[in-house]
Amino acid sequence: MTDRETWATRIGFILASIGSAVGLGNIWRFPYQTAEFGGAAFLLVYLLAVVVIGLPAILAEFVVGRRADISAISAFDALDHPGWRAVGALGVFGGFWTLSYYSVVGGWVFRYIGASVTGGYLEAPGEYFGAVSAGPEALALHAAFMLVTVGIVAFGIRGGIEKATKVMVPSIVILLVGLAVYAFTLPGSGAGYQYFLSPDFGALMENYQTVVPAAVGQALFSLSLGFAVMITYASYIDDDENLFVDGGAIALTNTLIGITAGLVVFPLLAVQGGGYGEAGPGAIFVSIPTALSDVPFGSAVGFVFFLIVAVAALSSAISLLEVVVSHLVDTYGFERRRTTVLLGGIVFALGIPSALDTAWLTWFDAIGVNLLLPTAVLLVVVFVGWVLADDAVEEIRKGADGFETVGTVWLWSIRSIVFLAVLGTVALSLFELTGAPL
Ligand code: TRP
Repeated sequence: MTDRETWATRIGFILASIGSAVGLGNIWRFPYQTAEFGGAAFLLVYLLAVVVIGLPAILAEFVVGRRADISAISAFDALDHPGWRAVGALGVFGGFWTLSYYSVVGGWVFRYIGASVTGGYLEAPGEYFGAVSAGPEALALHAAFMLVTVGIVAFGIRGGIEKATKVMVPSIVILLVGLAVYAFTLPGSGAGYQYFLSPDFGALMENYQTVVPAAVGQALFSLSLGFAVMITYASYIDDDENLFVDGGAIALTNTLIGITAGLVVFPLLAVQGGGYGEAGPGAIFVSIPTALSDVPFGSAVGFVFFLIVAVAALSSAISLLEVVVSHLVDTYGFERRRTTVLLGGIVFALGIPSALDTAWLTWFDAIGVNLLLPTAVLLVVVFVGWVLADDAVEEIRKGADGFETVGTVWLWSIRSIVFLAVLGTVALSLFELTGAPL
């Protein structure tokens, strides 16, 4: 296929990948996971998991995508291992699945941008969330979120995704840093930093069986691994790029943005007297508005906050949709625009249960993030570590002069610690989902 698109610029690829990585996972999921699993101790394990497991794993997806030069399922044919197509298919399916409820949460965020202007949620945040999170209005906003996502992906890699994320990612950074500075000025915010940044190792040692898998899962989700996004995005890059540098830049920026989100959320929660443990999908939608009713410029801060979340969610959603679109375009020669619209419609339909009842949303999230995602990552790790093996090392060394030794270390890390950690995550999720005692 000679007319396949590529990124216009290297920074375009990096920003699009950061756009995918930075999303609801950083601003919605990360703070409440941190709160649920004990604050700073979770943060520490998460950071370790990003470096030791997330970074090698993202490089594994890059290697598959760039070497194959084609979207996620056909990639395995292109690499002469058609028997592994199922791995790509699992990733594509998982992305589709995840986007269906991700978009529902995106719709809530749209709603909260509007409600910041009217101050709608300030009076009784808990009831407000309960009233708007499920039902016909949630469904309509889910449709709106999918429409915007479709609108961007329809324009392709250069004209759509690259252009959009070039504006989106810098905006997220600037606005979020602004809010973090604002949060710092609030009286009483100190306790939030204390909670977020000083780990309680005693609690960690006691609960490591739950904290460690949660942190590994969060690292994988946050880096957009498993659902073939990084395979697909890397299929649009050239051989002269240093994947170590790109992967490192993406992982680092994603982590810094997650931490900055924590530096906004936890001080705000501290101002209204703590309550960090407010867990579950409603977390930021209830506790942030509760905090906002107490602080100066509450509505304006809420507007900016939810605007950031919306932009971050959109730049991730486009990556999930792109995976499926590029599969149909590459493999069957479908026309991009029509394919994007059609797929957007199917994702919308799949998200209907989640929009009507948050219990469905939680169920979709559990299957998607706890089961499909680590399973897909595990299979890619086995494929790259043992099936591709030497070819993978050759591929990662392209455009990476001076990184020869790192290439070998990378392969061995894939075969040992990454493999074991992801295997453990899958096993624990299976036990949890089947209710087997451990
Ligand atoms: N990483 C995004 C977030 O943190 C979500 C996401 C986008 C994702 N694409 C993905 C997660 C692919 C897993 C796989 O919100």
